[in-house]
Amino acid sequence: MRVLGIETSCDETAAAIVERDADGHGRILSNVVLSQIEEHAPYGGVVPEIAARAHVEVLDRLVSQALQEAHMTLDDVDAVAATAGPGLIGGLIVGLMTGKAIAMAGRKPFFAINHLEGHALTPRLTDRIDFPYLLLLVSGGHTQMVLVKGLGDYERLGTTVDDALGEAFDKTAKLLGLPYPGGPEVEKAALLGDRARFTLPRPMKGEERLDFSFSGLKTAVRQLATTLEPLSQTDVNDICAAFQAAVADTLDDRVSRSLMRFRQSFPDVFEPSLVVAGGVAANKELRARLQRLCSDDGFRFIAPPMELCTDNAAMIAWAGAERAGFAPADTFDIAPRSRWPLDMQSAPLIGAGRRGAKA
Ligand code: KG4
Ligand code: ZN
Repeated sequence: MRVLGIETSCDETAAAIVERDADGHGRILSNVVLSQIEEHAPYGGVVPEIAARAHVEVLDRLVSQALQEAHMTLDDVDAVAATAGPGLIGGLIVGLMTGKAIAMAGRKPFFAINHLEGHALTPRLTDRIDFPYLLLLVSGGHTQMVLVKGLGDYERLGTTVDDALGEAFDKTAKLLGLPYPGGPEVEKAALLGDRARFTLPRPMKGEERLDFSFSGLKTAVRQLATTLEPLSQTDVNDICAAFQAAVADTLDDRVSRSLMRFRQSFPDVFEPSLVVAGGVAANKELRARLQRLCSDDGFRFIAPPMELCTDNAAMIAWAGAERAGFAPADTFDIAPRSRWPLDMQSAPLIGAGRRGAKA
């Protein structure tokens, strides 16, 4: 089965073709991503109207390119999958309508995919792992710990009650005068800094519930920066190092509790896995901490290649391919949803994913 995937939920326009064989193994035939970072950079964040317009302008070309790179035409596609949420509504409309139109014109089954499910199922494509496993999704719009029990069976163990982790990196960078997106800039500065000069709070550390909170940390950075003004390069580096150290300690605490929770829920899983996804997974210090934690606790640590950790359409095509094996296709009256929790049972948390823009 070959599936065309389309992703337009935030600031990446993407199209991909993925193949899934009868054994459930997958292969990426093409994976085209066009980032809009440059268009949003002057504003220090994603501007929804600019994003939607940019998707309209390039999506048809990207779909053609994905087909070309896979050496296929639309006739060779067995199904179409497009992100239907969560994300920025303008962009979602563009991708969903395009996907539906292609599927309708070609009389192909259509799958409306939850973007978070795309992230959640990626390790089954890249590393062929079995259910159940743990997923830590840390991106510009989401920070969630999810128990992936089976296809369509997801339990959110924890989520942020305020800012997403990538957002905290971006806001910290902005406060310190570093460019957007801030994550890589903060990481670079932190490498040169002294992490011991300042001590910043470790929000939620030690708490039984598995949620995250980053807005207090950001406020602490703001207060610290204000007292030091004007900031020297050394000050900026030291604050970044202290910020990253606080984030690493917090993640360490939250994740180690989640690993314990997994063991309690699934005592019979011989070699459990923790998967990370989202742009923040690019951070080397955080990755190294998680890797160490996993090896200490007997977990396998899986970090898909960076281009599949960040937003892409291969994960959407793959989620469509997995669903196609088990469930009927969606009907064409399905609507895009700016909010669409992966775990419908979990009560929404006040403030969580407020921005709702990026996943
Ligand atoms: O998953 P992603 O590419 O896009 C969406 O959020 O949709 O994640 C982007 C986020 C941004 O907030 C960016 O600052 C952060 O990931 N990020 C990083 C690093 N690289 C990207 N955060 C920390 N360290 C990095 N090296
Ligand atoms: Zn995402």
